Amino acid sequence: MIDLALPHVQALKGYTPGFQPKEAGWVKLNTNESPYPTSPMVEEALREVSLNSLRLYPDPLSMPLREEVARLHGLKSSNVIIGNGSDDVLNLLVRAFSSARNDLAVTMPSYSLYPVLCAIQNTEVTTLPFDRSMKLPLDEISKCESGILFFTTPNAPTAVGFSNEDFRKALSSFDGLIVFDEAYADFAEENAVELLAEFPNAVVTRTLSKSYGLAGLRVGYALAHEEVISILDRVRDSYNVNSLSQAGAIAAIKDQSYLNAIVGKIKYTRDYYISQFQEMGWFTYKSQANFIFTEPVTRSGAKGAEVASDLFEFFKQHKILVRYFKGHALTESFVRISVGDEDQMLYVSETIEKWLNKE
Ligand SMILES: Cc1ncc(COP(=O)(O)O)c(C=O)c1O
Repeated sequence: MIDLALPHVQALKGYTPGFQPKEAGWVKLNTNESPYPTSPMVEEALREVSLNSLRLYPDPLSMPLREEVARLHGLKSSNVIIGNGSDDVLNLLVRAFSSARNDLAVTMPSYSLYPVLCAIQNTEVTTLPFDRSMKLPLDEISKCESGILFFTTPNAPTAVGFSNEDFRKALSSFDGLIVFDEAYADFAEENAVELLAEFPNAVVTRTLSKSYGLAGLRVGYALAHEEVISILDRVRDSYNVNSLSQAGAIAAIKDQSYLNAIVGKIKYTRDYYISQFQEMGWFTYKSQANFIFTEPVTRSGAKGAEVASDLFEFFKQHKILVRYFKGHALTESFVRISVGDEDQMLYVSETIEKWLNKE
């Protein structure tokens, strides 16, 4: 049967999501979910959806949710499209704007889903590499001739943020569409939304999976010029966001004071642990996201891929899940730790102490 599939699909390797354990007892810091529950307003909104109403299809355009998102960002609903998670929106962008003849560019390292979406679409990927400084490769961007370019901003897995000043340079020197994947923007100092008014080729994507604590609800969105939104609507599944998700997402977005309180707590914990790692002599990028990318060092001063992989395994033996990205020089000596609650982070600290003492 495999022979019946399209040749490029036969050859492709699907995306590997972070491990989702079935049994309890894990400290799960591997997929940047929120350690805190979502707003109580979401529970109320979900309870108000009657079972009887689920007989009917959801609003195909998710229009009340588009309007809520538009209000949040000071835009019009015609500048908004809702997805079944932001992965859905990223997929729509790849499907609508790239092809075998119109390749897609990504900075590297960045969110590893983009090349998989391209492989499904049979699109070539052009890679614009970062160096260890993690500064935006503006020269490479200005020479890039791809039709569409994706930035993860703040970046994943490094957590490094970028400035709108650099993004303005990128947008002015690049002819195609630039997608700013802002999954972690609520934890950052700057975001690219203001650039939408200046550059019709800018697209911003967001998710409710991280700061809003709603990864299980699957809601994300894109903000863009209405012509771009209209294109994306043509390739979207008609009923891509279910009724419960639409209702829950509206309630979550309305409760901005709850969101701000949670984001404040996560940023406080994040910055405290970054300074701890730095005091230990572990190189750690300044994070503008809800995770920490740090380069572990043993008591005898060793670091590198083997050391990072050893810490990753040691964490696992102690029921802590973090992420390790092997096979790339800029990531393989690091581990990525999602910011957990205070108890979880204390346990991470104690486990690191044990790891350091095992030598
Ligand atoms: C950079 C980035 N973009 C998008 C997503 C996907 O988010 P969603 O849950 O909305 O599909 C993730 C999830 O980890 C991410 O890290």
